[in-house]
Amino acid sequence: MKHSFDFLVLGSGAAGLSYALQVSEFGSVAIITKKQKAESNTNYAQGGIAAVVDQYDSFEKHIEDTLDAGAGLCKLDSVELIVKEGPVAVGKLLEFGARFTKDDGELHLGKEGGHSHNRIVHAADMTGKEIERVLLKEIAKRPNIHIYEHHYALELITQHHLGKRVTRYDNDTQCFGAYVLNTKSNQVETFLAKVTLLATGGAGQVYRHTTNPEIATGDGIAMAYRAKARVANMEFVQFHPTSLFLPEANSFLISEAVRGHGGILRNHKGEAFMAKYDERKDLAPRDIVARAIDDQIKKSGEDFVYLDVTHLPEHDVIEHFPNIYKTCLKYGLDITKNMIPVVPAAHYLCGGVVTDLDGRTSISALFACGEVACTGVHGANRLASNSLLEAIVFANKAAASAAKMVQSISLNTEIPDWDDSGTTDTKEWIEVSHNKKELQQIMSDYVGIVRSNLRLERAFRRTFLLYEEVESYYQRNKVSVPLCQLRNMISVAYMIIRSAQMRKESRGLHYNVDYPKLNSAELHDTII
Ligand code: FAD
Ligand code: SIN
Repeated sequence: MKHSFDFLVLGSGAAGLSYALQVSEFGSVAIITKKQKAESNTNYAQGGIAAVVDQYDSFEKHIEDTLDAGAGLCKLDSVELIVKEGPVAVGKLLEFGARFTKDDGELHLGKEGGHSHNRIVHAADMTGKEIERVLLKEIAKRPNIHIYEHHYALELITQHHLGKRVTRYDNDTQCFGAYVLNTKSNQVETFLAKVTLLATGGAGQVYRHTTNPEIATGDGIAMAYRAKARVANMEFVQFHPTSLFLPEANSFLISEAVRGHGGILRNHKGEAFMAKYDERKDLAPRDIVARAIDDQIKKSGEDFVYLDVTHLPEHDVIEHFPNIYKTCLKYGLDITKNMIPVVPAAHYLCGGVVTDLDGRTSISALFACGEVACTGVHGANRLASNSLLEAIVFANKAAASAAKMVQSISLNTEIPDWDDSGTTDTKEWIEVSHNKKELQQIMSDYVGIVRSNLRLERAFRRTFLLYEEVESYYQRNKVSVPLCQLRNMISVAYMIIRSAQMRKESRGLHYNVDYPKLNSAELHDTII
């Protein structure tokens, strides 16, 4: 089946939905999303969206905090863009009816690690859900936006699918849309579009412990890489310091806003240890806190540390963190009375598909924004609550640029249907699920918070074996979501490992014991 649209949007998180709303003024829009429309990293965002809305705060301070976290690799113009557009982005969400937490009629502003001022706009501890709700409500009002739920994007379509050889050095590669698996009918459909947006989010699932939901398998980055787009800074994987350490809790996030509200990290002796590592203590940037916890765990031989809010008034904890309180209670833990066992977990990918200030990738008619993109905002480490902001602001910029571009592009109708001749439907799921677990274990053991040349080399060798096995399986079998996700996760793991090997220093989120210091010669992006 062939579909034709002016704009094709892959992903229905904050980035994809914000962009779709804007471009719908200029043509027909298809949104492809692999599960239900709200299922995304966005939907689980807790702490909030950073923006300068307090009269005593300033753009300069937010910019400085972002650059400081980014450890020398942020692009100033990208940072300035998101910071200056922050109040407008929040204003628009309020206009759409977002119910952000207020205090005496004013927005309540939370604090998170690395921020010198209270500037986190939030909806209690469920900010992402509120953002998804209002964006989807607005989308529903636009009849020319069609949402395709349970549709899985397999490949971006370029000249390669017209039989031409495409290399990473060509500058005339163009995107004509995507091949998409309808997971209900099991048919591969062709979505042709004048302009395509990648908004497929991050890749936390590459690791064994992650705060990310199951959709976060790095599909967009892997697809763009195969289509020969430029990808950068994949070594910078952010581990959130505090995910709930209970076997059944699936790395549920305990928001950094909890520390911003007075929560204290303690070791098993009850000591508040963060002062030993940084003068900002519990509110130091995430890389520092995550490494400090890792150090405490290694020194003590325990599996976790504690986050303590028992000294805070009970009603205050319940009012500000209702979802965290309720979820922990479900697991038998009353956080107002007992300390919370926490460990770091993979949370956010700072690297991704390289874009310019308008969200344009190195492939013509292909835009990217949100977590899939590398816009230069985050550098070597993302400042807390800057990602929702980045997703929305860059979506707006990409939309403005795509709206202009669409007028000069005509649909390419010569694209052939998906060709799966020579493949069979063997459904040997055990191979897929076993290899997925193995990959996640390799990444967690060897490419985590603290790395070394030896561990990276081991990870590379083992991942390469998985790559060979899965690639051969892929060539012989009909496509399925688990198989394609695994294939994409292996690509993303490869990019993380190779990028980590290329960086001969420790900077931001990338820490290698063999190069423990900053090296000014490495002050550049890692391009794959
Ligand atoms: P997502 O919201 O992840 O959306 C990606 C979309 O793409 C999904 O709809 C997914 O189904 C779809 N998709 C993916 N692959 C395919 C495919 N192959 N085919 C079809 N569809 C596909 N950031 C903050 O700024 N503040 C916070 O408080 C905050 N809290 C967080 C808490 C948690 C638990 C997590 C996991 C993240 C948090 N983040 C936070 C990070 C932030 O939520 C994300 O970076 C941001 O929401 C990403 O938005 P996005 O639109 O780029 O991607
Ligand atoms: C959190 O609430 O701690 C997550 C914030 C973020 O990832 O930006």
